[in-house]
Amino acid sequence: MHQPVLLGPSVENWLTDPHGCYIDCTVGGGGHTKALLEKLSQDAQVLAIDRDKDTLDNTRRQLTDNRVRFIEGDFRDLSVLLDEEGIKQADGIMIDLGVSSFQLDQAERGFSFHEDARLDMRMDRSEPISAWDVVNQYDPADIADILFRYGEEKYARSIAAAIVRQRIIKPIDTTLQLVEIIQGAVPAKYRREKHPARKTFQALRIEVNRELEAIEEVMPQAVEVLRPSGHLCIISFHSLEDRIVKTFMQKESKECVCPPGLPVCICKHQPRLRIIARKPIIADEEECEANPRARSAKLRVAARI
Ligand SMILES: C[S@@+](CC[C@H](N)C(=O)[O-])C[C@H]1O[C@@H](n2cnc3c(N)ncnc32)[C@H](O)[C@@H]1O
Repeated sequence: MHQPVLLGPSVENWLTDPHGCYIDCTVGGGGHTKALLEKLSQDAQVLAIDRDKDTLDNTRRQLTDNRVRFIEGDFRDLSVLLDEEGIKQADGIMIDLGVSSFQLDQAERGFSFHEDARLDMRMDRSEPISAWDVVNQYDPADIADILFRYGEEKYARSIAAAIVRQRIIKPIDTTLQLVEIIQGAVPAKYRREKHPARKTFQALRIEVNRELEAIEEVMPQAVEVLRPSGHLCIISFHSLEDRIVKTFMQKESKECVCPPGLPVCICKHQPRLRIIARKPIIADEEECEANPRARSAKLRVAARI
Protein backbone atom coordinates (compact mmCIF):
# COMPACT_ATOMS: atom_id res chain seq x y z
CA MET A 1 0.00 0.00 0.00
CA HIS A 2 1.30 3.45 -0.90
CA GLN A 3 1.14 5.74 2.12
CA PRO A 4 0.35 9.23 0.83
CA VAL A 5 2.55 11.94 2.33
CA LEU A 6 1.34 15.21 3.89
CA LEU A 7 -2.22 14.03 3.37
CA GLY A 8 -3.96 16.47 5.74
CA PRO A 9 -2.25 19.68 4.57
CA SER A 10 -2.41 18.56 0.93
CA VAL A 11 -6.16 18.10 0.91
CA GLU A 12 -6.72 21.22 3.00
CA ASN A 13 -4.84 23.28 0.42
CA TRP A 14 -6.03 21.48 -2.71
CA LEU A 15 -9.72 21.94 -1.83
CA THR A 16 -11.14 25.38 -2.56
CA ASP A 17 -14.77 24.59 -3.48
CA PRO A 18 -16.59 21.34 -2.58
CA HIS A 19 -18.53 21.49 -5.87
CA GLY A 20 -15.45 22.05 -8.01
CA CYS A 21 -13.37 20.29 -10.62
CA TYR A 22 -10.00 18.95 -9.44
CA ILE A 23 -7.00 17.48 -11.17
CA ASP A 24 -4.67 14.92 -9.66
CA CYS A 25 -1.71 14.87 -12.07
CA THR A 26 -0.10 11.91 -10.23
CA VAL A 27 -2.93 9.76 -8.92
CA GLY A 28 -0.63 6.80 -8.10
CA GLY A 29 -2.40 4.64 -5.51
CA GLY A 30 -5.14 7.26 -5.23
CA GLY A 31 -4.43 8.24 -1.60
CA HIS A 32 -4.71 11.99 -2.10
CA THR A 33 -7.67 11.71 -4.44
CA LYS A 34 -9.54 9.41 -2.06
CA ALA A 35 -9.07 11.84 0.84
CA LEU A 36 -10.21 14.75 -1.34
CA LEU A 37 -13.33 12.87 -2.46
CA GLU A 38 -14.39 12.55 1.17
CA LYS A 39 -14.63 16.34 1.33
CA LEU A 40 -16.29 16.89 -2.04
CA SER A 41 -20.00 17.08 -2.92
CA GLN A 42 -21.66 14.61 -5.25
CA ASP A 43 -21.57 17.10 -8.14
CA ALA A 44 -17.78 17.58 -7.98
CA GLN A 45 -15.35 15.85 -10.29
CA VAL A 46 -11.74 14.69 -10.21
CA LEU A 47 -9.52 13.97 -13.17
CA ALA A 48 -6.97 11.38 -12.13
CA ILE A 49 -3.88 11.21 -14.34
CA ASP A 50 -0.92 8.84 -14.26
CA ARG A 51 1.56 7.84 -16.93
CA ASP A 52 2.00 4.36 -15.47
CA LYS A 53 -0.59 2.01 -16.98
CA ASP A 54 -0.21 -0.71 -14.29
CA THR A 55 -0.63 1.85 -11.52
CA LEU A 56 -3.66 3.38 -13.16
CA ASP A 57 -5.34 0.00 -13.79
CA ASN A 58 -4.73 -1.02 -10.20
CA THR A 59 -6.13 2.22 -8.75
CA ARG A 60 -9.07 2.23 -11.15
CA ARG A 61 -10.07 -1.20 -9.80
CA GLN A 62 -9.84 -0.05 -6.18
CA LEU A 63 -11.23 3.45 -6.39
CA THR A 64 -14.70 3.13 -7.84
CA ASP A 65 -16.34 6.51 -7.56
CA ASN A 66 -18.33 8.01 -10.41
CA ARG A 67 -16.89 11.48 -9.70
CA VAL A 68 -13.45 10.28 -10.86
CA ARG A 69 -12.25 10.00 -14.46
CA PHE A 70 -8.96 8.13 -14.92
CA ILE A 71 -6.62 9.25 -17.67
CA GLU A 72 -3.48 7.48 -18.77
CA GLY A 73 -1.06 10.19 -19.79
CA ASP A 74 1.96 12.30 -19.00
CA PHE A 75 1.23 15.46 -17.02
CA ARG A 76 3.63 17.35 -19.27
CA ASP A 77 0.78 17.14 -21.84
CA LEU A 78 -1.74 18.56 -19.36
CA SER A 79 -3.38 21.07 -21.73
CA VAL A 80 -3.96 18.43 -24.41
CA LEU A 81 -5.27 15.87 -21.89
CA LEU A 82 -7.72 18.43 -20.47
CA ASP A 83 -8.83 19.54 -23.95
CA GLU A 84 -9.61 15.94 -24.81
CA GLU A 85 -11.75 15.70 -21.68
CA GLY A 86 -13.47 19.02 -22.36
CA ILE A 87 -12.11 20.59 -19.14
CA LYS A 88 -11.55 24.34 -19.43
CA GLN A 89 -10.97 25.32 -15.78
CA ALA A 90 -9.95 23.60 -12.58
CA ASP A 91 -10.42 24.56 -8.93
CA GLY A 92 -7.30 22.80 -7.72
CA ILE A 93 -4.36 20.86 -9.09
CA MET A 94 -2.21 18.37 -7.18
CA ILE A 95 1.20 17.09 -8.30
CA ASP A 96 2.84 14.56 -5.97
CA LEU A 97 6.18 13.83 -7.62
CA GLY A 98 8.35 10.73 -7.70
CA VAL A 99 7.49 7.04 -7.64
CA SER A 100 4.89 5.23 -5.59
CA SER A 101 5.41 2.25 -3.28
CA PHE A 102 3.37 0.25 -5.79
CA GLN A 103 6.06 0.88 -8.42
CA LEU A 104 8.91 0.15 -6.00
CA ASP A 105 7.22 -3.07 -4.90
CA GLN A 106 6.89 -4.36 -8.47
CA ALA A 107 10.39 -5.80 -8.51
CA GLU A 108 10.37 -6.39 -12.27
CA ARG A 109 10.10 -2.63 -12.90
CA GLY A 110 13.71 -2.19 -11.80
CA PHE A 111 13.12 0.85 -9.56
CA SER A 112 14.43 -0.76 -6.40
CA PHE A 113 18.08 -1.38 -5.56
CA HIS A 114 16.97 -4.06 -3.09
CA GLU A 115 15.37 -6.34 -5.68
CA ASP A 116 16.97 -8.08 -8.63
CA ALA A 117 15.38 -7.18 -11.95
CA ARG A 118 16.26 -6.04 -15.44
CA LEU A 119 17.40 -2.42 -15.46
CA ASP A 120 14.29 -0.59 -16.56
CA MET A 121 12.80 2.23 -14.38
CA ARG A 122 10.38 3.48 -17.04
CA MET A 123 7.15 4.78 -15.51
CA ASP A 124 5.59 4.57 -18.98
CA ARG A 125 6.73 1.27 -20.42
CA SER A 126 6.02 2.39 -23.98
CA GLU A 127 8.87 4.91 -23.78
CA PRO A 128 11.95 3.91 -25.79
CA ILE A 129 14.75 4.66 -23.26
CA SER A 130 15.17 2.52 -20.15
CA ALA A 131 17.85 2.49 -17.44
CA TRP A 132 19.51 -0.34 -19.40
CA ASP A 133 20.08 2.02 -22.33
CA VAL A 134 21.52 4.76 -20.12
CA VAL A 135 23.90 2.40 -18.33
CA ASN A 136 24.99 0.39 -21.36
CA GLN A 137 24.89 2.89 -24.20
CA TYR A 138 25.38 6.45 -22.96
CA ASP A 139 28.68 8.21 -23.31
CA PRO A 140 30.81 7.81 -20.12
CA ALA A 141 30.95 11.60 -19.57
CA ASP A 142 27.15 11.81 -19.86
CA ILE A 143 26.69 9.04 -17.27
CA ALA A 144 28.98 10.86 -14.84
CA ASP A 145 27.13 14.10 -15.50
CA ILE A 146 23.71 12.50 -14.91
CA LEU A 147 24.84 10.90 -11.63
CA PHE A 148 26.32 14.19 -10.47
CA ARG A 149 23.45 16.47 -11.52
CA TYR A 150 20.41 14.30 -10.80
CA GLY A 151 21.81 12.23 -7.93
CA GLU A 152 24.19 14.82 -6.43
CA GLU A 153 26.47 11.77 -6.22
CA LYS A 154 29.97 12.78 -5.18
CA TYR A 155 31.48 9.58 -6.57
CA ALA A 156 29.79 10.09 -9.95
CA ARG A 157 33.04 9.87 -11.92
CA SER A 158 34.32 6.69 -10.32
CA ILE A 159 30.91 5.00 -10.56
CA ALA A 160 30.65 5.98 -14.26
CA ALA A 161 34.19 4.69 -14.87
CA ALA A 162 33.37 1.39 -13.14
CA ILE A 163 30.20 1.02 -15.23
CA VAL A 164 32.15 1.54 -18.42
CA ARG A 165 34.91 -0.93 -17.40
CA GLN A 166 32.27 -3.56 -16.72
CA ARG A 167 30.09 -3.04 -19.78
CA ILE A 168 33.09 -3.56 -22.09
CA ILE A 169 33.30 -7.10 -20.72
CA LYS A 170 29.56 -7.77 -20.82
CA PRO A 171 26.34 -5.73 -20.70
CA ILE A 172 25.02 -4.71 -17.29
CA ASP A 173 21.55 -6.20 -17.38
CA THR A 174 20.22 -6.17 -13.84
CA THR A 175 19.75 -3.90 -10.85
CA LEU A 176 21.87 -6.04 -8.53
CA GLN A 177 24.72 -6.20 -11.05
CA LEU A 178 24.68 -2.41 -11.03
CA VAL A 179 24.54 -2.29 -7.21
CA GLU A 180 27.63 -4.51 -7.06
CA ILE A 181 29.50 -2.23 -9.47
CA ILE A 182 28.57 0.84 -7.40
CA GLN A 183 29.67 -0.88 -4.20
CA GLY A 184 33.05 -1.60 -5.76
CA ALA A 185 33.47 1.99 -6.96
CA VAL A 186 32.93 3.88 -3.70
CA PRO A 187 35.00 3.94 -0.48
CA ALA A 188 34.12 1.51 2.32
CA LYS A 189 33.11 4.37 4.62
CA TYR A 190 30.51 5.53 2.09
CA ARG A 191 29.16 1.98 1.82
CA ARG A 192 28.48 1.98 5.56
CA GLU A 193 26.44 5.20 5.48
CA LYS A 194 23.17 5.17 3.51
CA HIS A 195 22.76 2.64 0.70
CA PRO A 196 25.54 3.50 -1.81
CA ALA A 197 23.26 2.87 -4.83
CA ARG A 198 20.54 5.27 -3.64
CA LYS A 199 21.75 8.35 -5.49
CA THR A 200 22.69 6.53 -8.68
CA PHE A 201 19.24 4.92 -8.86
CA GLN A 202 17.55 8.29 -8.27
CA ALA A 203 19.65 9.88 -11.02
CA LEU A 204 18.92 7.13 -13.53
CA ARG A 205 15.19 7.31 -12.77
CA ILE A 206 15.14 11.07 -13.30
CA GLU A 207 17.00 10.71 -16.60
CA VAL A 208 14.89 7.81 -17.89
CA ASN A 209 11.59 9.54 -17.11
CA ARG A 210 12.79 13.07 -17.91
CA GLU A 211 11.32 14.04 -14.56
CA LEU A 212 12.73 17.54 -14.19
CA GLU A 213 11.69 18.61 -17.69
CA ALA A 214 8.18 17.32 -16.96
CA ILE A 215 7.88 19.57 -13.89
CA GLU A 216 9.10 22.60 -15.86
CA GLU A 217 6.57 21.86 -18.58
CA VAL A 218 3.50 21.15 -16.46
CA MET A 219 3.59 24.22 -14.20
CA PRO A 220 2.72 26.93 -16.78
CA GLN A 221 -0.06 24.72 -18.15
CA ALA A 222 -1.43 24.20 -14.64
CA VAL A 223 -1.49 27.96 -14.00
CA GLU A 224 -3.27 28.49 -17.30
CA VAL A 225 -6.12 26.11 -16.42
CA LEU A 226 -6.62 27.16 -12.78
CA ARG A 227 -9.57 29.43 -12.17
CA PRO A 228 -8.91 32.56 -10.05
CA SER A 229 -8.29 31.52 -6.40
CA GLY A 230 -7.76 27.90 -7.45
CA HIS A 231 -4.74 26.26 -5.81
CA LEU A 232 -1.67 24.60 -7.28
CA CYS A 233 -0.15 22.10 -4.81
CA ILE A 234 3.17 20.41 -5.53
CA ILE A 235 4.94 17.86 -3.34
CA SER A 236 8.61 17.31 -4.11
CA PHE A 237 11.08 14.85 -2.62
CA HIS A 238 14.50 16.27 -3.31
CA SER A 239 16.18 19.63 -3.64
CA LEU A 240 16.39 19.54 -7.45
CA GLU A 241 12.61 19.25 -7.76
CA ASP A 242 11.90 21.71 -4.99
CA ARG A 243 14.22 24.34 -6.49
CA ILE A 244 12.35 24.20 -9.81
CA VAL A 245 8.97 24.53 -8.08
CA LYS A 246 10.09 27.33 -5.78
CA THR A 247 11.72 29.33 -8.60
CA PHE A 248 8.63 29.05 -10.78
CA MET A 249 6.21 30.05 -8.03
CA GLN A 250 8.39 32.98 -6.99
CA LYS A 251 8.73 34.25 -10.54
CA GLU A 252 5.00 33.91 -11.23
CA SER A 253 4.18 35.85 -8.06
CA LYS A 254 6.47 38.83 -8.76
CA GLU A 255 5.26 42.25 -9.88
CA CYS A 256 8.48 42.80 -11.82
CA VAL A 257 11.01 40.43 -13.38
CA CYS A 258 13.33 43.06 -14.89
CA PRO A 259 17.08 42.46 -14.53
CA PRO A 260 18.38 44.05 -11.31
CA GLY A 261 19.74 47.61 -11.63
CA LEU A 262 17.22 49.01 -14.13
CA PRO A 263 16.01 52.44 -12.94
CA VAL A 264 12.39 51.77 -14.00
CA CYS A 265 10.38 48.63 -14.65
CA ILE A 266 10.08 47.79 -18.33
CA CYS A 267 8.85 44.18 -18.10
CA LYS A 268 5.18 44.92 -17.32
CA HIS A 269 5.08 41.46 -15.77
CA GLN A 270 1.66 40.46 -14.50
CA PRO A 271 1.84 38.12 -11.49
CA ARG A 272 -0.40 35.09 -11.99
CA LEU A 273 0.19 33.39 -8.63
CA ARG A 274 0.05 34.30 -4.97
CA ILE A 275 2.23 32.11 -2.77
CA ILE A 276 0.17 30.67 0.08
CA ALA A 277 2.98 29.72 2.46
CA ARG A 278 6.41 31.33 2.15
CA LYS A 279 8.07 28.24 3.59
CA PRO A 280 7.27 24.77 2.25
CA ILE A 281 4.97 22.63 4.37
CA ILE A 282 6.84 19.62 5.80
CA ALA A 283 5.80 16.53 7.72
CA ASP A 284 5.72 16.49 11.51
CA GLU A 285 7.78 14.06 13.58
CA GLU A 286 4.87 11.64 13.96
CA GLU A 287 4.39 11.32 10.19
CA CYS A 288 8.14 10.96 9.58
CA GLU A 289 8.24 8.13 12.15
CA ALA A 290 5.34 6.35 10.49
CA ASN A 291 6.44 6.96 6.90
CA PRO A 292 10.16 7.54 6.21
CA ARG A 293 9.34 8.88 2.68
CA ALA A 294 7.74 11.88 4.38
CA ARG A 295 11.10 13.05 5.76
CA SER A 296 12.14 14.60 2.47
CA ALA A 297 8.67 15.74 1.31
CA LYS A 298 7.98 19.45 0.78
CA LEU A 299 4.58 20.81 -0.16
CA ARG A 300 4.41 24.19 -1.91
CA VAL A 301 1.10 25.88 -2.57
CA ALA A 302 0.17 28.90 -4.66
CA ALA A 303 -3.18 30.41 -5.62
CA ARG A 304 -4.11 31.66 -9.08
CA ILE A 305 -4.65 35.40 -9.10
C1 LIG B 1 4.35 9.60 -5.42
S1 LIG B 1 3.32 8.80 -6.53
C2 LIG B 1 1.74 9.52 -6.24
C3 LIG B 1 1.03 8.94 -5.08
C4 LIG B 1 -0.38 9.43 -4.90
N1 LIG B 1 -0.46 10.83 -4.60
C5 LIG B 1 -1.08 8.64 -3.82
O1 LIG B 1 -1.52 9.24 -2.82
O2 LIG B 1 -1.21 7.42 -3.95
C6 LIG B 1 3.73 9.51 -8.05
C7 LIG B 1 2.96 8.99 -9.23
O3 LIG B 1 3.12 9.93 -10.29
C8 LIG B 1 3.27 9.26 -11.50
N2 LIG B 1 4.01 10.15 -12.38
C9 LIG B 1 5.28 10.57 -12.26
N3 LIG B 1 5.60 11.40 -13.27
C10 LIG B 1 4.49 11.53 -14.03
C11 LIG B 1 4.20 12.27 -15.21
N4 LIG B 1 5.12 13.03 -15.82
N5 LIG B 1 2.94 12.20 -15.70
C12 LIG B 1 1.99 11.44 -15.09
N6 LIG B 1 2.24 10.69 -13.99
C13 LIG B 1 3.47 10.75 -13.47
C14 LIG B 1 4.00 7.99 -11.14
O4 LIG B 1 3.76 7.01 -12.10
C15 LIG B 1 3.43 7.66 -9.77
O5 LIG B 1 2.36 6.78 -9.87
